Amino acid sequence: APSDPDLVERARAAKAALGDRVFVLGHHYQRDEVIQFADVTGDSFKLAREAAARPDAEFIVFCGVHFMAESADILTTDAQRVVLPDLAAGCSMADMAVLAQVEKAWERFASLGIASEVVPVTYMNSSADIKGFVGRNDGVVCTSSNAETALRWSFEQGTKVFFLPDQHLGRNTAVLKMGFELADCVLYDPHRPGGGLTDEQLRGAKVILWKGHCSVHGRFSLDAVEDVRARVPGVNVIVHPECRHEVVTAADFVGSTEYIIRVIDEAPAGSAWAVGTELNLVRRLALAHPDKQIMFLERNVCYCSTMNRIDLPHLVWALEELVAGRVPNQITVDASTAHYARVALDRMLALP
Ligand code: 13P
Ligand code: SF4
Repeated sequence: APSDPDLVERARAAKAALGDRVFVLGHHYQRDEVIQFADVTGDSFKLAREAAARPDAEFIVFCGVHFMAESADILTTDAQRVVLPDLAAGCSMADMAVLAQVEKAWERFASLGIASEVVPVTYMNSSADIKGFVGRNDGVVCTSSNAETALRWSFEQGTKVFFLPDQHLGRNTAVLKMGFELADCVLYDPHRPGGGLTDEQLRGAKVILWKGHCSVHGRFSLDAVEDVRARVPGVNVIVHPECRHEVVTAADFVGSTEYIIRVIDEAPAGSAWAVGTELNLVRRLALAHPDKQIMFLERNVCYCSTMNRIDLPHLVWALEELVAGRVPNQITVDASTAHYARVALDRMLALP
C-alpha cells in the first residue's frame, strides 16, 4: 500500500529540520515506507561500518532491529545517540542465546580441558552481552558477508570454533565454504543438560554450533527449491545462509542481503530468480527489475515480524521527538560490555 502522504510529509519536514544532525540507517528488510527515508541502506556489515563512519551525526536513527542498534551504539562515539524507532523490534534468533547459558557452556568446555582450544565466534545477530563474552574470550564477531573469513581467522587461533547463535550460518559456512564434514559439527542445545552432548562428542568436534536459528529463513524448504525448479525451467535459486543446510546445498547462489541484491542487479534481462530471504527485500527486487522474473522461494508470506515493527508512524514519531529536543528510544550498552563487544567487533572490521 502507498504510504500515508501526511506522514511522508511529516517525515520529510522533520528530517529537513534536523539536517546533518541526524543520519538514518536502513536494513534491506525494512518496509518501503521506511527505506525511502534511509540515508544509507545495507546488510548488517555495511550498516555497522556506516555507523562507525559518521562521527559527526549527533543522532543515528536505526531502522533495523535491536542488536544492530546496540552494535551502532558500541561503534559510535560517546556523544552520539542511537535511536531505535520501536523498542519491540528485536530478533528471535538473537534472543536464543542468553549470556548465562553461554557461560555455562564455556564452563563445561573448561572442565573438559578444551576451552583454551576453542575460539568463540558470534554472528552479528546476538546481544551486546554475547559479543562482550566473545571479545573477553579472544573471539570475533561475523556477519553473513564475512563468516568464512572470520572462521578462517578463528582456525588460525585455535583448533575448535564455538559458533553462536545461528547453527545454520555456522554449519553452512563450515561445510560448504571450508570443507568440513557434517560430522565435524555438533549441536549444543542450551535447554538440555550439558548441551545434550557427551564429552567424546565435544572433544571430537571441530565446530560446536549453538542451537539457534532464524524463524523467517527456517521456513524455506528443500521442497520449495525442487518445486520452483520443476515449475520454472532455468530458474536461479538464490538464498541467504541463514537457511537450512539442505536448502543452501540445493541453491545456486548463497550470500548476504547485499550480495543477493548485487547478483540480481548484475543478472541478464530475462533471467528468472527464486529468492530465499525476507519478503520486503524480494518485493523491492521484483519492482526494481521488471525485465527479470523475480519470485519468492516459498509461496506463503514471510516477513520478518520484528523488522516490520519499524513502520512510518514510528519513524515520524522518533524524528519529531528529536526535533522537539527529546531523544526517544535511545539504545545504550553499558561501558564494560561495550568495551569487550567493541574488541570483538573491531576484530571483525579488521579482517582482510
Ligand atoms: P544481512 O543483511 O547481513 O545479510 O543479514 C540478514 C539478517 O537476517 C539480518 O537480521
Ligand atoms: Fe532476526 Fe531472522 Fe528477522 Fe533477521 S530475519 S532480524 S535473523 S528474525
